[in-house]
Amino acid sequence: MPLHEPTAGSEWWRSGIIYQIYPRSFADHGGDGMGDLKGITNRLPKLKELGIDAVWLSPFYTSPQKDAGYDVSDYRDVDPLFGDLNDFDQMLERAHELGLRVMIDLVPNHSSDQHEWFQSALNSKPGSKERSYYHFKDGKGENGELPPNNWQSMFGGPAWTRVEDGQWYCHLFDSSQPDLNWENQVVRDEFEDILRFWLDRGVDGFRVDQPHAMAKAQGLPDHPYVAEAGAGFIEGRESPPMWFQDSVHEIFRSWRNILDSYPGDRAMCGEAYVLPLSFMALWVRPDEFHQTFNFRFLDAGWDQEKLISAINESFEAFDSVGAPSTWVLNNHDVIRHASRFGGDYGRATASDGIGPNNPQPDSLLGITLARASTLFMLGLPGASYLYQGEELGLPEHTTLEPEFRQDPTFFRTNGERVGRDGCRVPLPWEANGPSLGFGPTAASWLPQPAGYLELARDLQEKDDSSTLNLYKRALEIRKELKLGEGSFDWVSTGELLSYQNQNVIVVHNFGKDCALPAGRLVLSSDSEQGDLLRSNQTLWLEI
Ligand code: GLC
Repeated sequence: MPLHEPTAGSEWWRSGIIYQIYPRSFADHGGDGMGDLKGITNRLPKLKELGIDAVWLSPFYTSPQKDAGYDVSDYRDVDPLFGDLNDFDQMLERAHELGLRVMIDLVPNHSSDQHEWFQSALNSKPGSKERSYYHFKDGKGENGELPPNNWQSMFGGPAWTRVEDGQWYCHLFDSSQPDLNWENQVVRDEFEDILRFWLDRGVDGFRVDQPHAMAKAQGLPDHPYVAEAGAGFIEGRESPPMWFQDSVHEIFRSWRNILDSYPGDRAMCGEAYVLPLSFMALWVRPDEFHQTFNFRFLDAGWDQEKLISAINESFEAFDSVGAPSTWVLNNHDVIRHASRFGGDYGRATASDGIGPNNPQPDSLLGITLARASTLFMLGLPGASYLYQGEELGLPEHTTLEPEFRQDPTFFRTNGERVGRDGCRVPLPWEANGPSLGFGPTAASWLPQPAGYLELARDLQEKDDSSTLNLYKRALEIRKELKLGEGSFDWVSTGELLSYQNQNVIVVHNFGKDCALPAGRLVLSSDSEQGDLLRSNQTLWLEI
């Protein structure tokens, strides 16, 4: 019996390719250097051509943009930076005309400090109803001058900020992102209503931000091993009081009920950073999330042993509850794979970014492994997530000067961790356009590195061996051969790491150049294919 057999059900989210649009950097229609919804609408046909099934949009809601929109001040409106609700509706309509589904980001763990709830909380007394929507607490120490507990922010520094009357509020991220109190029924009702607001408009689903942070342990006790784990957790140890609390599951169930009450296959994907995967399986039980991101796979880097165990554990865990596994190599929080695989950037540094003072990646190795790892991933059964620009083989902007940095991580660590701006740079669409076709003017909210010119999409469209055409062919063949719905079994786990899905063998060479394995060559990650299977190369072979 293969390690994984096709899962029951044929809903699109079980095998779909979901493309992440980062609205600020996708396409700028207005010419102010900031991507917008009209820009997305105009460029959607290009995504259709690419061969994806759905898009996921990072937040476009009203926001002071302290964390690039993951600080929402109005969950039911569009930030004027990106357009308005009418632009959203037009974008959605166009996507649906093209046969593309649209998932949007839901950010329930925290709001912006400019959200009217938080503003009223600040203007209300300790112990008031208004404060109960967030986690306000008295401090420790003689005069309450110490934070209520030892929790740390994911972006560096303490997870608590003190307000004028002496109380403290909790923020697992930036101080501009106060954590909501999910014990409070009003908070729950509000989010159910927000879900309905967008489902009524016609969205196909949600990517849920930081769902594992929403429920906190009663009384907000200290993180027992903060010295070793910082803001995070250590796999295999007991969950710290701010991560993976059991009480969160009933919230997901209530959301699932809402989604299920709408026609069509609406889906929710949790950005659940939950390990081990056997634990994550609880999150994708049939009445909870449809999918979760598979960070185990992303974190494996391009390490043979880690990849094998990530894949084994994924199938074991997700199959145990009948959920599809998802696969992902890139997003707006980690170093782009064309750079990450060109150097020694492990999990610890993936979201810390690469700056001008860090060791620079080997770009040839990076792009070789980026193409190879993508082919390896796209042959796997299940759903896959792509992040805008990876289809162009874009590298990270690794020499971005400090004055351009916007990620709160940079500021909260005094530049020690440069943060995630380097993977968020506006896309190059046309080699000859101002801002490389990102918009009608030269404006670009982050400067594009010189190397983006030769990677412009219009040049790649004309070049048969381009990364763009590799992605297109892979997606086309994947669909044709139904690889997304297929099965999985290892063929060999030596230096030639290979698996079979349907009648395709996917093989990656971790060793030296060697003879081509048997089978009809369908696709090769190298731009030119000779008579050898080269080191660091991936092939798809039909048998
Ligand atoms: C998620 C987002 C990230 C954001 C954080 C806080 O991890 O992907 O960009 O900074 O949540 O909302």
